Amino acid sequence: MAVSKTHANSILLFLATMIAVAQANFNRDVAINWGGDGRAQIVDGGRGLRLSLDRYSGSGFQSKNYYLFGRFDMMIKLVPGNSAGTVTTFYLTSEGPDHDEIDFEFLGNSTGEPYTVHTNVYSQGKGDKEQQFRLWFDPTAAFHTYSIVWNPHRIIFMVDNIPMRVFNNNGASGVPFPTSKPMRVICSLWSADDWATQGGRVKTDWTKAPFIAHYRNIRLSGKPCATASSCGSGNDTFSNEAWQTQGLDANGRNRIRWVQQKHMIYNYCNDRPRFPQTPHECKGSRF
Ligand SMILES: *[C@@H]1O[C@H](CO)[C@@H](O)[C@H](O)[C@H]1NC(C)=O
Ligand SMILES: *[C@@H]1O[C@H](CO)[C@@H](O)[C@H](O)[C@H]1NC(C)=O
Repeated sequence: MAVSKTHANSILLFLATMIAVAQANFNRDVAINWGGDGRAQIVDGGRGLRLSLDRYSGSGFQSKNYYLFGRFDMMIKLVPGNSAGTVTTFYLTSEGPDHDEIDFEFLGNSTGEPYTVHTNVYSQGKGDKEQQFRLWFDPTAAFHTYSIVWNPHRIIFMVDNIPMRVFNNNGASGVPFPTSKPMRVICSLWSADDWATQGGRVKTDWTKAPFIAHYRNIRLSGKPCATASSCGSGNDTFSNEAWQTQGLDANGRNRIRWVQQKHMIYNYCNDRPRFPQTPHECKGSRF
């Protein structure tokens, strides 16, 4: 049986479209959970999502599914110009008491002043593990990829595939590590001008509203569970994907050293007034 060339081409086109759709689709992967009255909008046929903030409300979205471990990639273009007081987020969080959380938060600034990238890890309800960074590019000029890898061994924060921070599962050390509570991915844009910019000294300029952040290329790799209780133990071998054992190779270790030496502006590990005793997970080789 002969398949006509046009027919074959249209099958190929269809398959290519299916693959593109499988890669990024906000309609399929997320629900708008805040600011549904137009402040949060899925755009470009599901390929992008726009969040906005005005003086009445911010906006946000969350993954439809829960994940117990995974790799989560998001391209974000942050609020340009005077973004002081605004906070754009991309994080994972569990629900209920003693929650676990893995945070990327982007703290806006006055025009021409740099954003602060704020990271934190909560385990069993306890956070207090902040590290902050400057980016080596203008995050408002173009989309960049921000990634969270979470496997049973470690959490890796990455920017354009460059590791920025690693939080290891120290096992026997007694430092809690998130291993049992499924998390959702949440992104939001809100105003926190009581603390975000220069410790709250610089307020949001509402005459510049609405503030807009753009998201694109969402990629949630991991086993999706419709409810938190249906995730199982998270260590079943449902697939064999690189993130499940991902760590840092020699190149990754070089790059994270570069980021931490040149671009880190705050590290809780070195904050003696706050932690007179070095937190356990900060001792020894961290990568
Ligand atoms: C904003 O810019 C000032 C001055 O460059 C800087 O000290 C501050 O850390 C920046 N970021 C935030 C979020 O305040
Ligand atoms: C799977 O996870 C459970 C609970 O976290 C743990 O008790 C068990 O040892 C794990 N199994 C494997 C094969 O790692």
